[in-house]
Amino acid sequence: MATLDFGGVIEEVVTEDEFPLERAREVLNNEIVAVIGYGVQGPGQALNMRDNGIRVIVGQRRGGASWERAVNDGFVPGETLFSPEEAAERGTVIQYLLSDAGQVALWPKIKPCLHEGNTLYFSHGFGIVYKDQTGIVPPPHVDVVLVAPKGSGRTVRTNFLDGSGINASFAVFQDFTGRAREKALALGIAIGSGYLFPTTFEREVYSDLTGERGILMGALAGVMEAQYRLLRRHGHSPSEAFNETVEELTQSLIRLVGENGMDWMFANCSTTAQRGALDWAPRFRDAVAPLFDELYRRVQSGEETRRVLEANSAPDYREKLNRELATMHDSEMWRAGAVVRSLRPENRKS
Ligand SMILES: NC(=O)c1ccc[n+]([C@@H]2O[C@H](COP(=O)([O-])OP(=O)(O)OC[C@H]3O[C@@H](n4cnc5c(N)ncnc54)[C@H](OP(=O)(O)O)[C@@H]3O)[C@@H](O)[C@H]2O)c1
Repeated sequence: MATLDFGGVIEEVVTEDEFPLERAREVLNNEIVAVIGYGVQGPGQALNMRDNGIRVIVGQRRGGASWERAVNDGFVPGETLFSPEEAAERGTVIQYLLSDAGQVALWPKIKPCLHEGNTLYFSHGFGIVYKDQTGIVPPPHVDVVLVAPKGSGRTVRTNFLDGSGINASFAVFQDFTGRAREKALALGIAIGSGYLFPTTFEREVYSDLTGERGILMGALAGVMEAQYRLLRRHGHSPSEAFNETVEELTQSLIRLVGENGMDWMFANCSTTAQRGALDWAPRFRDAVAPLFDELYRRVQSGEETRRVLEANSAPDYREKLNRELATMHDSEMWRAGAVVRSLRPENRKS
């Protein structure tokens, strides 16, 4: 573990310096990693591990686009590609990467495939923490670990291919063999994590559900829409409203935040912008604080989980989600966004 000082708070993190890929290969030498689910995380993690020399098989139900994708990615039916149950039976590390609702549906079939000393692996604390709703209670004779990449499965793969990595948290819920922690770290390194930081299943799921409902997606989309509508109400053109709300953020400012931090970005904007942003940031913070409190309470109480499981277990859940996503896609703000993006020099050349 490397000890790092996060602005006065000391944290222990693990990088490839402390846990080299060679060691991960040794730890996983006798394991067959069964990646159950070839949706978003499944391909990213499976392909990175395979490229890193780990024995990987995939468990995916037949007949859909995900099965085809696994075949196209070089997994061979009957050799390295099976039904979820058969892959779980053949694997010694079972990476449970179905959608969270899918994990609940398939659990009764997967549980009997977990044999003594196997490792059950999650990328989200959801199934375990909300066990009252999910029914996912692992048998006592297996290790239960978590590695949760802090990014989309797509970036798990693209960052691996460009030589960087995605930071991930790791946790041990149940240590039957006494080797659960080293297996979790080995798997974290093998899927191409940047640095790994320790968490618990509970903290992982609480922060993750809060983050995606909050600043990463829900809150961000909400405040963008509020500002765009305000500007449009006051007669600003779609181009002006979109550029002041989204384009300047994504094409300039947030890149600077990523590279050097919000403090640096502030310090490198005009003093007019600095004065205003320093005045308004605390007002926005205080205005949304009660909403964030409510969000965290609903995450803790399992209300958000109930909503997800009810909505996403319906047979037509995908169509319903797609209808809502289409409404967003067709809104004036995101149609304006498509036009603005098409005018970027790199898009005009082609
Ligand atoms: N998305 C991310 O980038 C991300 C990031 C961090 C952590 N995670 C976590 O990683 C895990 C996997 O997430 P994901 O986004 O990769 O999931 P996803 O794309 O929604 O995964 C869907 C997979 O689950 C299968 N599936 C769904 N319902 C099923 C059912 N009833 N029976 C059998 N198979 C079923 C799908 O098969 P079909 O294609 O045939 O429907 C597909 O293989 C979750 O725990 C998630 O919270 C995800």
